[in-house]
Amino acid sequence: MADVPEWATGVDVDRPSAARIYDYALGGSHNFAADREAYADVVTTFPDAPLVARSNRLFLHRAVRHIVTDLGVTQFLDLGSGVPTVGNVHQIAQNIDPRARVVYVEIDPVAVAHAEILLADNPRATMLRADVRDPAAILRSEQVTSLLDLSRPVAVLMVTVLHFIPDADSPAGIVRAFRDATVPGSAVAVSHLIAGDWDDESGNVEQVYNRTSTGINPRSRAEIAGLLDGYDLVEPGLVYSPLWRPDPGPAGLDPLTDDPARSVALAAVGRR
Ligand SMILES: C[S@@+](CC[C@H](N)C(=O)[O-])C[C@H]1O[C@@H](n2cnc3c(N)ncnc32)[C@H](O)[C@@H]1O
Repeated sequence: MADVPEWATGVDVDRPSAARIYDYALGGSHNFAADREAYADVVTTFPDAPLVARSNRLFLHRAVRHIVTDLGVTQFLDLGSGVPTVGNVHQIAQNIDPRARVVYVEIDPVAVAHAEILLADNPRATMLRADVRDPAAILRSEQVTSLLDLSRPVAVLMVTVLHFIPDADSPAGIVRAFRDATVPGSAVAVSHLIAGDWDDESGNVEQVYNRTSTGINPRSRAEIAGLLDGYDLVEPGLVYSPLWRPDPGPAGLDPLTDDPARSVALAAVGRR
């Protein structure tokens, strides 16, 4: 058993976790040897992994900016938010509108512990430890009922989280439950690993993630589009994530703007 810092007391640090693998991929420090070994195995068969992680995070940033600035929605429910790292949703949203409110939801105890420390002084952002597969528990939680006003528009973020939900747990039903709990004018942001483009590598990546408690389930374009039923997608619709409203500049900030299919993920923002 590895040396465990205080913020990880009680965590099984010998089993890799999706949250901590992603944290490591983004250059964070809330991960353990098992996570770094799993990530090394991913990179061996899928060398684009670091670029994919960064590209995804940049989509999240652009989506949040668009939702606050153009859609005027300032309440966020960030499902599967990950270990807080640079450029968290509350930092981006509150930088544009200090009144913005964010409830983060995570299953990973390290992500939760670190977020609680980071958010201790922020009255408009909080963390809930919960499983996205239980929307009712999330919606009636103290965090959601005290911080979010569900009679006003809310943006539900499901950014690279739905592919951790197997078909047996009805990802479409989960999206629908959150959609139905929000009023018209609300928004959704989704990014999701696409099946097909990277079949050779994805089998190996799936094997690595099967060592965590949350395996991965890439889906086809039609399946991902189906998850967004009931939402009107804002331009440009469902596209490879680097193509979703890229930042201006020669190639934007996204390392995959010039070769967007390498992101192996589709992304969209929708309006209810
Ligand atoms: C790749 S990270 C994405 C983090 C952030 N949304 C982003 O895109 O930058 C996926 C996160 O989803 C979390 N997750 C996976 N399954 C979950 C579940 N059933 N309930 C809550 N969180 C979950 C993982 O712990 C991980 O932190």
